[in-house]
Amino acid sequence: MNKNNSFRRYYPKFWGFVLSFCLFLGLFRAFYWQASLTNNTKLTKSNDSLAQIFLGKELFFDKKLSTNGKVACATCHQPDKAFADGLPLSNLGVSGKKLLRHTPTLFYLEAMPAYFWDGGAKDLPSQAVAPLRHPDEMGKDLKLLVQELQNSPHYLPLFKNAFGTDSLQTIHILQALAAYQQTIRPKKTVYDDWKMNLFNSQINKKLEVDTLLAGFKVFAVHCEPCHRLPLFTDNNFHNNGLDAEIQSTAHEQVYWGRGRITQKNTDKAKYKTPTLRNIAYSAPYMHDGRFGSLEEVLKHYTTGVQFSSTLDTLLVKNTQRGIVLSPKEQADLLRFLRAL
Ligand code: HEC
Ligand code: HEC
Repeated sequence: MNKNNSFRRYYPKFWGFVLSFCLFLGLFRAFYWQASLTNNTKLTKSNDSLAQIFLGKELFFDKKLSTNGKVACATCHQPDKAFADGLPLSNLGVSGKKLLRHTPTLFYLEAMPAYFWDGGAKDLPSQAVAPLRHPDEMGKDLKLLVQELQNSPHYLPLFKNAFGTDSLQTIHILQALAAYQQTIRPKKTVYDDWKMNLFNSQINKKLEVDTLLAGFKVFAVHCEPCHRLPLFTDNNFHNNGLDAEIQSTAHEQVYWGRGRITQKNTDKAKYKTPTLRNIAYSAPYMHDGRFGSLEEVLKHYTTGVQFSSTLDTLLVKNTQRGIVLSPKEQADLLRFLRAL
């Protein structure tokens, strides 16, 4: 058999194979979305007792945990602002001085591999030491706090109930705070109903399904690679092009983002992808709160992306920086984001 014949013989098979493979990929993507959208998130189940969660909630909202008695965790992590504080850089701490980074939301904490925008804290209990002691946040002496809570007729029984001991230690305070914070969930929104209806053919004729679907499709192509379903974050670190190459080493390299922690040039200016759930309630946006609205965020992704050595490759296409979106796609995407 000559070459030409075997080519003719295998040529249709080859394209048949390519076609099936593409179909398979398409189906796989569709199933992946359906699974991500409809399944409840598989988060590790917490073993914390209800008593610890209850105690942690009391502590989270208690201003006595600060040195001047005026600042609670909830002063900056406000439930009606998606557990953020509505300020670009918070000055709500005991000193009234501006912090260096924007207050993030506190959803799905148990799924995070590390805490803070740069992942500088490895676990949730130890994370809380930072705001409790920081002179511009709560400025509290932890030994004093333990004594005060030990002597409190209100708290002592709660600690005893939660940890089975009369002898209070710092770790109990930190563990209770972590137990409560792991129960924090986004407020239910249009999105929650929408995703339930999306794959239900009985009701997916409803207007809401159709109006959000267009935005979801844009999102799935351009944003979902980092803002992964179902949590709307991949819990990883990326440079989404906010700044050109970072030179400043000020404030112990705070502007290096993840690079400050790993001390690698390849991690410079990378930050943890934030979830987008309840995003309409948590303005302003980004690690330094530089964008006041979702319109500004989209303007950044479409026309504002800056080049630097660590810029994520998803945000560069054939040397063109940013994501190309038509005005209609932007309007659809905004509608979807506001429903989250
Ligand atoms: C004065 C405002 C302020 C107060 C008070 C405050 N926080 Fe924060 N919180 C912030 C800021 C700002 C960040 C981000 C800091 C960073 O990433 O460098 C943050 C980050 C966090 C994170 C990490 C979230 C993530 O996505 O990685 C957790 C958890 C947290 N705070 C819990 C607490 C707890 C618990 C308390 C009380 C003990 C508290 N915060 C008090 C402003 C505050
Ligand atoms: C390459 C990964 C990546 C892609 C693609 C991406 N993002 Fe982001 N996004 C991030 C990271 C990382 C941050 C945090 C950056 C920072 O603060 O420095 C972020 C922040 C945001 C914020 C601010 C959230 C907050 O709580 O402050 C919004 C809103 C947002 N992105 C929306 C989108 C939309 C919409 C798209 C698609 C058009 C998109 N992102 C595409 C990685 C990405």
